[in-house]
Amino acid sequence: AVVRLEDYRPTDYAIDTVDLDFRLDPTATQVTASLAVRRREPSPTQAENPPLILDGDGLKLKQVFVDGRTLSADEYEATPNRFTLHTPPHEPFTLKIVTEIDPENNTALMGLYRSSGVYTTQCEAEGFRRITYFYDRPDVLAVYTVRMEAPRAGTPVMLSNGNLIQSGPVDGSDRHYAVWHDPFPKPSYLFALVAGDLGSIHDEFVTASGRRVRLGIFCEHGKEERCRYAMDALKRSMRWDEEVFGREYDLDVFNIVAVSDFNMGAMENKGLNVFNDKYVLVDAETGTDMDYAHVEGVIAHEYFHNWTGDRITCRDWFQLCLKEGLTVFRDQEFSSDMRSRPVKRISDVIGLRQAQFPEDAGPLAHPVRPTAYREINNFYTATVYEKGAEICRMLKLVLGDEGFRAGMDLYFERHDGGAVTIEDFIECFAEATGRDLTQFSLWYHQAGTPKVTLSHTYDEKAETLSLSLAQELPRTPDNKPKEPQLIPLSFGLVGPDGQDLSWEDVDGPAALGEAGKDALGRGLILLSDKEMNLTFRGVRAEAVPSVLRGFSAPVHLEADLTDDDLFFLARQDTDAFNRWEALQSLARRAILSGYQTLASGGAASFDPRLAAAFAELAENTDFDPAFRALALALPSENEIAQLIAKDVDPDIVYETRQALAGFIGEKSAERIVEAAKREPAMPAYSPDADNAGRRALTFAAWRYQIAAGKARGQDEGTQVRRSFETATNLTERLAALRLLVHENLTGSSAALDAFFERYSDNPLVLDKWFAVQAMQPGHETLKKVEALTQNPAFSWKTPNRVYSLVRTFGAGNPTAFNRPDGAGYHFLANAIADLDKSNPSVASRLATCFRSYRLLEPGRRTHAEAALRALADRPDLSTDVADIVIRTLG
Ligand code: ARG
Ligand code: ZN
Repeated sequence: AVVRLEDYRPTDYAIDTVDLDFRLDPTATQVTASLAVRRREPSPTQAENPPLILDGDGLKLKQVFVDGRTLSADEYEATPNRFTLHTPPHEPFTLKIVTEIDPENNTALMGLYRSSGVYTTQCEAEGFRRITYFYDRPDVLAVYTVRMEAPRAGTPVMLSNGNLIQSGPVDGSDRHYAVWHDPFPKPSYLFALVAGDLGSIHDEFVTASGRRVRLGIFCEHGKEERCRYAMDALKRSMRWDEEVFGREYDLDVFNIVAVSDFNMGAMENKGLNVFNDKYVLVDAETGTDMDYAHVEGVIAHEYFHNWTGDRITCRDWFQLCLKEGLTVFRDQEFSSDMRSRPVKRISDVIGLRQAQFPEDAGPLAHPVRPTAYREINNFYTATVYEKGAEICRMLKLVLGDEGFRAGMDLYFERHDGGAVTIEDFIECFAEATGRDLTQFSLWYHQAGTPKVTLSHTYDEKAETLSLSLAQELPRTPDNKPKEPQLIPLSFGLVGPDGQDLSWEDVDGPAALGEAGKDALGRGLILLSDKEMNLTFRGVRAEAVPSVLRGFSAPVHLEADLTDDDLFFLARQDTDAFNRWEALQSLARRAILSGYQTLASGGAASFDPRLAAAFAELAENTDFDPAFRALALALPSENEIAQLIAKDVDPDIVYETRQALAGFIGEKSAERIVEAAKREPAMPAYSPDADNAGRRALTFAAWRYQIAAGKARGQDEGTQVRRSFETATNLTERLAALRLLVHENLTGSSAALDAFFERYSDNPLVLDKWFAVQAMQPGHETLKKVEALTQNPAFSWKTPNRVYSLVRTFGAGNPTAFNRPDGAGYHFLANAIADLDKSNPSVASRLATCFRSYRLLEPGRRTHAEAALRALADRPDLSTDVADIVIRTLG
């Protein structure tokens, strides 16, 4: 069944308090829910109340009472998926429901489940209905009190939302109990319970206004020390939210639990965040630099949800971006402040192009605020999260820092305690700044990545620089006609000496108006029409326009810049992002034309200036090493495939990209390697951004050294093999392993074996061992991946393991997944069908690997479609998988 935004209607009844009592048992947990129910609109006393209809999912009802009275069979109806009380009382009443659930055999990992002996919950989006019957929707807010009891042995730790108000032994037994109370009304998706035998570390945070908050991070015994960095990140997040958004924490306790079987990244349950342990546990020996950055970002993200998500939540699931887009934006800003802003921005844009642009360009495209869904689990997408964050970033740019902050302040003040919509959110900014944000809001409602074209001319005599801008909105699966959007383009006119030139005034559409003029003064063009011409007067010298600085909008930009212009910007632009982007554009051009040449049987050749520009940036100590490392990375195969957009042959994409790496390596590897060596030596491992950057630069240099060796027919792996042996941290050891395996160098299989030995008792590192192999380029990798599914260390039951092997293969290995014989597609389709029986969420995430199949050349496209059709024809597919498959096929 399709759920539609236009059908939204508040519930007939409110539920003000929820008292939950859990008798925890692995296979027969008894849940008693006492709900304080009242009619929202008092009905005329004589008329009958409408039935109370609650959601369930696979539930077994044991007992039911209204105000303590047992109901007779004709007063209600209970099926596994729904509870109906036919004629509720007029006055407020207490509905008591007893259900029995089986956490141990809950393989979907939604609702209450038990894995590795620990009880955990995951309720977003619709998991609470697998625990008890309820209005399992975000606009029903209640105050929860949770009692649980279990044997003390095996379950010494018992946690829930809010504050612990009581605990102790259960008289005359080996059991004990705990009672938690959360004073903040919340929707059911934020409920959480954790119970088990867990280790923990503790700390304290004093808020700006002096509240003492006890902090705890819980994990498997023996892993406590690996939680230290997360604790530090948490305290920094708490301080940052006070300083930057004026938001303080509001309970006496904040707990985080790391669990190893978890479908997603993490969950922001009020006062009790539950995490996939890969986003908590790190140390030098078992986490990479990247892992540290992710832990910091995800800890911050979940913490920031306390205000943007928990205190203010969504009216319905169509508003998911209200909390997710905004919270991603907040965590990105946090990481930018903790690390390097340009490096963070570039990494995020790489991620956007890798994950969101392909989604927006394919059959699964949807607006950031969708209007219909069949399965809400499938809308936790890059579009809702990452494009949603881009909208908040643009809002800040358009309104200016102060206007944005004023809007945020109003939002917190007006909607605290509410369940609201995107319209409510935008209205706060409109009111706080007096701006009309109607057109801006289209970003939420129109799917697809806009294409912006720019051409420019300079008139030396008149000293004018004219820009012609146009926007084009692609057709998306909804086939809706599109209106021009408001696209903020940060820009500068880069003069011959590299400085931004000023101008005296601007001729343009009168429509620029007050807001447009204000924006121009801040170096921002607000492109609001389909086409727009601007003439800058008083530009004293010929300038190259540098547009979309900082990636000010999530668009494709096609500018009429020559290679010379791009080389110039790569050397001279004052905007770090656009220097990176200029070099990327040159690399994209080189690969795209190389691809065409190779595809028509020729041999690719490249411009030596490109190799020189790479070396020059590597040597440029004005930039920190992390930036230089990013600048040395070529556009991904997926990104190139998206640009080719039609009849793509992934093998040729790979070959062309390798050829360019070899070319740059041959010409510039020595300079790049020397540049990396000139960085001061690192004493001991430290995960901070600066040290991480220096390591990244070294790895980038290795890559070109090896590429150069390959181009000359030599194995240049000596350095990498030595590093693999002598590495003192996982980052370096893994980087070396990756190169050995992906470049197929001597010693790669010995290195894989050694790595496995070393980390055989560390699941998170073993995940990386699987992923490295799943990404090895070439058609043969499929066989290796199939063999790896038989490895005793592999398990279909652990989401992280499945993601690391199977999803990495489907989403991160274009040559192997897209084998010309279609075997990669059938392998994945079979994996999806099998997994769907136990864990539909994980299965449907795997199914998104097919989202770009229509770009492929006809042979592969036909195979992919056949695999999808075979999948669609299977009986008993979950709605999760069926939804993705049906939409992908179109
Ligand atoms: N709200 C969580 C977060 O982004 C993610 C929950 C994912 N839920 C799901 N059903 N996919 O922090
Ligand atoms: Zn989130």
